[in-house]
Amino acid sequence: MEVMKLENLSFSYGEHSILKGISCTFDAGKIYAIVGKSGAGKTTLLSLMSGLAEPTEGTIFCNGKEMKLEDKYEYRSRSIGVIFQDFNLLTKLTAVENVELSMEISAENSHKKIDRQANRDSAYGLLAEMGLRRDEADRRILKLSGGQQQRVAIARALSYGPDIILADEPTGNLDEETQREIMGIFRDLAKNGKCVIIVTHSSYVAECADEKIELKTVNHS
Ligand SMILES: Nc1ncnc2c1ncn2[C@@H]1O[C@H](COP(=O)(O)OP(=O)(O)OP(=O)(O)O)[C@@H](O)[C@H]1O
Ligand SMILES: [Mg+2]
Repeated sequence: MEVMKLENLSFSYGEHSILKGISCTFDAGKIYAIVGKSGAGKTTLLSLMSGLAEPTEGTIFCNGKEMKLEDKYEYRSRSIGVIFQDFNLLTKLTAVENVELSMEISAENSHKKIDRQANRDSAYGLLAEMGLRRDEADRRILKLSGGQQQRVAIARALSYGPDIILADEPTGNLDEETQREIMGIFRDLAKNGKCVIIVTHSSYVAECADEKIELKTVNHS
C-alpha cells in the first residue's frame, strides 16, 4: 500500500537548485535507504517530506492527500515521525519526559484530550521496547550514551503512532553492534506495517533496506 508519493519534486535555495525532478513512491511495510554524496540534498528532501519546508515545484502526496492542503502541525503530530541526525532531544528532561512531551504536543495539535498517566505508561513501554531499562528511562538525556539517546529519539518518533518514520543518519556515530540493533528495530517496525525511510552513508544500512534511492547532486554547470 502506497503511503507517500513524490511527484516531480524540485527545491531551490534562491538561485541555487538543490533537488530537481524527484519522483518516487513509498509503500507501507518497507525500509527505504536514501543515499547520495554529502550536499546532494538528502536532509533537504526529508524536510520537504516532513512538511518543514515547501517544494519549489512538484507535489507530495501522503496517504493520497496533497500535503500542501494539510494542516502541517497536525500532519507532523500524526502521520510522520522524524528522527533527526543530532536527535534534537531536550537535554534538561529525562528520556521518558521527552517521549511524554511529544505525546502531549501531538494530542494538542490533533485537538485530543491528554491522559498523563496513560501517556507515562506507554512512554515507559515504548522505551522498554527500544531496550531502555526503567532507571535509564528516568535519566536525563546527557547521562545516556549516544546509542541510548538514539533509542529515545526513535521512541519519541513512534510516540503518537505515525505510519511513516523518517530518519536522518540514525546510525551515524554508533558501533557496528548498536547499528545492527537499531536496524533490527527498524526491521520490526516495517514488519508491523510502518514505512521506514532512512538517509544514510552506511553501506550496511543501505544493504538492510528493501529499496535504495540514490540522490544525484544537481549539476550547476
Ligand atoms: N538554509 C540553507 N540555505 C542555503 N543553502 C542551504 C541551506 N541548507 C542547506 N543548503 C545547501 O543545500 C545543499 C544540500 O544540503 P543537505 O543538507 O540537504 O545535504 P545532504 O545530502 O543532507 O548532505 P550530508 O550528507 O552532508 O548531510 C548543500 O549544498 C547545502 O549547502
Ligand atoms: Mg544531511
